[in-house]
Amino acid sequence: MTKRLALVTFGCQMNVHDSQRIEELMLAAGYEIIADVEGADVVILNTCSVREKAEQKLRSEAGRLKKADVILVVAGCVAQQEGERLIKSMPYIDIVVGPDNLAELPALVRDAELGATPAVRTVFDVEDPRFLTNQVREGGVGASAYVTVMKGCNERCSFCIVPHTRGPERYRSARDIVHEVRALVDGGAREVVLLGQTVNSFMDPETPAEIDRDPDESQFPALLRRIAEEAPALDRLRYTSPHPRHLTASLVRAHADLAVLADHVHMPVQSGSDRMLKRMIRRYTREEYVSRVDALRTARPSLTMSTDIIVGFPGETAADFELTLSLVREVGFSALYGFKYSPRPFTPALRLEDDVSNEEKQTRLLALFEVSDALTRANLASMVGTRVEVLIEGPSRPGASTRVGRTRRNEIVHLPGTVGLDAGAVVVAEVARANKHSVEGRLESIKLPASAKVMQTHRRVALPVVQA
Ligand code: SAH
Ligand code: F3S
Repeated sequence: MTKRLALVTFGCQMNVHDSQRIEELMLAAGYEIIADVEGADVVILNTCSVREKAEQKLRSEAGRLKKADVILVVAGCVAQQEGERLIKSMPYIDIVVGPDNLAELPALVRDAELGATPAVRTVFDVEDPRFLTNQVREGGVGASAYVTVMKGCNERCSFCIVPHTRGPERYRSARDIVHEVRALVDGGAREVVLLGQTVNSFMDPETPAEIDRDPDESQFPALLRRIAEEAPALDRLRYTSPHPRHLTASLVRAHADLAVLADHVHMPVQSGSDRMLKRMIRRYTREEYVSRVDALRTARPSLTMSTDIIVGFPGETAADFELTLSLVREVGFSALYGFKYSPRPFTPALRLEDDVSNEEKQTRLLALFEVSDALTRANLASMVGTRVEVLIEGPSRPGASTRVGRTRRNEIVHLPGTVGLDAGAVVVAEVARANKHSVEGRLESIKLPASAKVMQTHRRVALPVVQA
């Protein structure tokens, strides 16, 4: 009988991408993928450890499965961080597998099914990095696809565990990246999102590093240009997340030159106070961040910006936090992810006292959301009555008659009564109404019909993703 597998994804886009690749690996190994952990023979928890809450979620989810007769796999960042210790504290776990060892999953699961003792695989592939790529097959590509350009992180932001769980930076060759993008476009994908922890620090292992002697130049914009040239049928190109420190003048120029680049950049800032930025080891000032945003907006006036912010970092005073609020207003982010500082193992900030109380962090987070929600609402309200181009991603919920998609500026648009509209279609809609986080529109015309090959479900919704 075909074995059934359920996957639960915690955390970031990188994990969503990894989960999609796990799904493909396990499908190819003969497993059936089901949405619900009840009734599964194998459950894979793809975990996140960036904040403590995310790690707690793994523990409660794994605990819930303790008595079930399943092969339980813990993958991702908690697996990498804890390794053997996970099996010691939760002996009902069968497999612990880090982000660099996912390709071994089908074999590890087979061994577990045959009664093997618990296995732990958490080895970084530093010498010979491997990258999991999209398996392009009929009906298997979504309207939008993630493509990894690099993995790991060489920054040392003092709060962040990612350099520990994902290892040092390793880059794919531009040739391989372009090859994958072309295959996706041929398979019907309209949009590609390039992924990396600091995606714009990309360096092509096949290109000499001379280009980087000029501080205005860098290899990431060269990659964008090459994709634009060699995959001309691609409709939208996005990337996430750039580090402000690597946002060079040549990357800014790419936004002026390349029509395929979407009108949105997500660039984490973390704080508006130089004192905090320094303690966070972000290696830029508030002024530098703002001037880079200004340059991007000069190159692409229609650009929207979103960001990540941490409140209550050690030593953050009320005055520092006010500077964060004033920066958010000054830049006018259209969307924002805010987090309470959470001390993480293996991070430099552990040496600093976590001196902002949880109540104060909560108060600051709510104040931050008040400012950012107002900005989001104002942006969405300004869209009413305008025409926007929407890339359809699928039904708003499984079985719904409303289709949902995104504009080039990354706003979410719901189109009620559009059952016949397929994922991957690019349409023009008139915005009729603004909601809290999205707008509602009326379909006006179809600019590009969907390719018959595109998967008709919204992957990002179909896959359970647990936000921490
Ligand atoms: N460079 C990555 C960032 C990964 S972590 C990227 O691609 O976006 C995502 C966000 O989580 C960070 O930008 C930061 O805002 C937040 N974060 C990271 N460590 C944290 C911690 N210890 N406490 C609270 N928030 C944290
Ligand atoms: Fe983390 Fe900073 Fe890298 S937030 S992923 S150490 S850029």
